[in-house]
Amino acid sequence: MAISPLAAEAQAIAAEFDFGAEDGRRAVRKFVAQMSAGLAKDGDTMIPSYVTALPDGTEKGICLAVDIGGTNLRVCSVELHGDRTFTIKQNKTTIPHNIRVGSTAENLFGFIAEQVEIFLRDNYGSHVPSTATLSKSDHLPLGFTFSFTFNQTAINRGTLIRWDKGFDVPGVIGKDVIQLLQDELDKRNIPVRVTALANDTVGTLMTRSYTSPGGHKCILGAVFGTGTNGAYVEKLSNIGRLSSRKSPTGEMMVNTEWCSIDDELAVLPTNSYDDAVDKTSSNPGYTMFEKRVSGYYLGELFRLAVLDLLARTKHQAHVATVRSDSALLQQSGIDTAILSTIEGDLDPSLQATRNCLKEQLGVEHTTTEFASAVRTVVHAIGRRAARLSGVAIAAVVLKSECLSQGDSHFDIGVEGSLIEHYPGFERHLRGILREIPEIGQTGEERIHMGLANDGAGVGAALIAMVADEEEAEAKQNGRLVALPDPTSIANTCPQIPVAAASSS
Ligand code: BGC
Repeated sequence: MAISPLAAEAQAIAAEFDFGAEDGRRAVRKFVAQMSAGLAKDGDTMIPSYVTALPDGTEKGICLAVDIGGTNLRVCSVELHGDRTFTIKQNKTTIPHNIRVGSTAENLFGFIAEQVEIFLRDNYGSHVPSTATLSKSDHLPLGFTFSFTFNQTAINRGTLIRWDKGFDVPGVIGKDVIQLLQDELDKRNIPVRVTALANDTVGTLMTRSYTSPGGHKCILGAVFGTGTNGAYVEKLSNIGRLSSRKSPTGEMMVNTEWCSIDDELAVLPTNSYDDAVDKTSSNPGYTMFEKRVSGYYLGELFRLAVLDLLARTKHQAHVATVRSDSALLQQSGIDTAILSTIEGDLDPSLQATRNCLKEQLGVEHTTTEFASAVRTVVHAIGRRAARLSGVAIAAVVLKSECLSQGDSHFDIGVEGSLIEHYPGFERHLRGILREIPEIGQTGEERIHMGLANDGAGVGAALIAMVADEEEAEAKQNGRLVALPDPTSIANTCPQIPVAAASSS
């Protein structure tokens, strides 16, 4: 049956987002090779986390955590109950644009310190001890999840390599972000010690390992949200810069920073919309994988593709009109949640899509045919993002050699709006796993994926508690079970254990 010129244009745009099975196999080979090369040297990918063991679910303790990585800042206290469950109490704040872009290190970290102060005051009030009455070692430990590319040189030290996801505060690059935060806390006499620094993916891996109900080995923590990245368990002997180091497990979590793998575009698919997104981004030439996969960029890819669809079909009779205040006319004006809504609209009338076009995108007088053309474009962008995500996961599966180990199943902890809410994301991602000969359907079926809710905060708290114990030289043979007794913190800050609901 002949298709309409509008549908034909939509299909032509969609075809520019094709990423076939052979493309996937080539990309996986390249990712594995780049991961091995990245491990051998110092660089901006494959960064050791200095966390050498995964939790097993029996850990107990309570700790503060701060999580920054997108437009929101979260401050939380996490209590681990020792039975794979936890309680979390948290404050979420939007980081103002003028703090995220063009401000100073002092402004940004001062803002974070103030939020810690507000959290303590709101939740623990007069029970928060004064710095005047405490020695530094009695200050409350805090884990800092910092979801940007940083070079980690110890569990409590890391210098920012570059910003992404729209952040741009030049004075932070090259500085130790733990020290910047500690200085601002100290200036305000807040009785908190930042004891650990972690990427959100390391936190996700730790959290899934702590909470995973099946008891399967967790091999990877992956984030598919505003940004994308993964952390996995690697043999210490394979990590070039640390190969002579010893740890009781012989392993270390590695933050792959896969968002930047193949920045030279040897295997990543590229079309004119990708080029435009990169050129107008705050970091042209970097994080090219992330620019095709993550929530921060998919809305912009969609905006450019729909504008192109409108331009290509402006003389046709679909009569959709774009209001002058439409988000389609504003750079980075579109939330990826809109793509999820359109992808999930399975009703033949496409009424939800038409409502979304009108109410959220300012596109009036749409027909079902126009909505269908838009949906074709959305599907192509979302499907490619999911299949590329499958490339990164497949590469880690091969790199970790987990399929040649005896276990029947493996666990992957995942977090982020795309994997949680984008319809069909996991299905398309799994499609790539099956297309890789070394994994195939049998391997794919052995890989279990589960949400690591609150992974960034809980993981940072887990790591901070371990780091704190290490510092106190009370750690038992490198096992994560050596967490401080919650009462030791409760005695210092008696209200902390009384955290509200929201348990996993
Ligand atoms: C950052 C990573 C982070 C990921 C997911 C990327 O932009 O570079 O460090 O893990 O986003 O939040």
